[in-house]
Amino acid sequence: MKKRIMTGDRPTGKLHLGHYVGSLKDRVALQDEYDQFVMLADVQALTDNFENPQKVRDNIKEVALDYLSVGIDPTKTTIYIQSQIPQTAELTIYFLNLVTLARLERNPTVKEEMKQKGFGSEVPVGFLAYPISQAADILILKANLVPVGEDQRPMVEQTREIARKFNLLYGGDLPAGRQVFPEPEIKVGAVARLVGTDGNSKMSKSLGNTINLSDSEEEVEKKVMGMYTDPKRIHPTDPGTVEGNPVFIYLDAFGTDADQEQVNKFKESYRKGQIGDVEVKKYLVEVLNKFLDPIRARRAEFEKNPELVEEILKEGTKKARGEAEKTMIEVKKAMKLNYFD
Ligand code: TRP
Repeated sequence: MKKRIMTGDRPTGKLHLGHYVGSLKDRVALQDEYDQFVMLADVQALTDNFENPQKVRDNIKEVALDYLSVGIDPTKTTIYIQSQIPQTAELTIYFLNLVTLARLERNPTVKEEMKQKGFGSEVPVGFLAYPISQAADILILKANLVPVGEDQRPMVEQTREIARKFNLLYGGDLPAGRQVFPEPEIKVGAVARLVGTDGNSKMSKSLGNTINLSDSEEEVEKKVMGMYTDPKRIHPTDPGTVEGNPVFIYLDAFGTDADQEQVNKFKESYRKGQIGDVEVKKYLVEVLNKFLDPIRARRAEFEKNPELVEEILKEGTKKARGEAEKTMIEVKKAMKLNYFD
């Protein structure tokens, strides 16, 4: 039997190049070897957008198109919508007992997000508790592997703790290996954290420094030509720094093997002050548009057929719900809540 993947994204905006190298690429590569489930996390998106449900609704479609356009294949991967699996909410309630407030407050990603959103002492309970509901997303499908960006590492760590605790408490008479929940592993992509176009260490929609998978050729050109490079370099004849320079980081990440020789030449000339930023940027525009073209083409196909996309989500959700129901029967049995069996 194939091992299982469960992963997903909050539908709060378009997915970008950082998502691609951080995890989408892995999801495309692993969908043959694994039984893969990819979730549109609308419930989690609402934890910090509860006053704006339309935004979440609109982005369900966008992110579904992003998935399909990068090559996540609905005949191999189950794509589904979180809110339509109510069993996850039920499992979350049981998991709430297994996690302390102090443990939640120590989660580095939650801490960082709380600071960013300026909640102060007015943190909504739903927001603080989202790692518990994320553990329920992963465990209700008994996932073995979770391909996500580096920032999700603390979530998978908490998920493992919850699985261990549940198995220990309620799996007493089950032999090892037959426990209710596996302890899932994380898989972070080759470029764990992609720099933004502004040189910030993280490409992120909230920082407005992204190149989106759905950007047009013109948008890509505009963003690349305005990119941050080496701030110490004033003239093209000044020796430049390649390391940490977003232009070269993107060339390394998105250039094909065939681009390698040219990229190496550019690096050499850049270090010697023999080439201007503009020339390297123009090459990067070409490289990125070459990378994005097949993605755009697939997107256009699916955009022409919204009924198909809806059908994919509907079928995927039905399948995920069936799996969740099966797990909940085991959970209730283990917790002695199976009164009427
Ligand atoms: N936290 C993820 C994000 O910010 C979304 C998510 C929700 C998720 N549940 C998940 C990711 C389960 C992987 C597994 O995009």
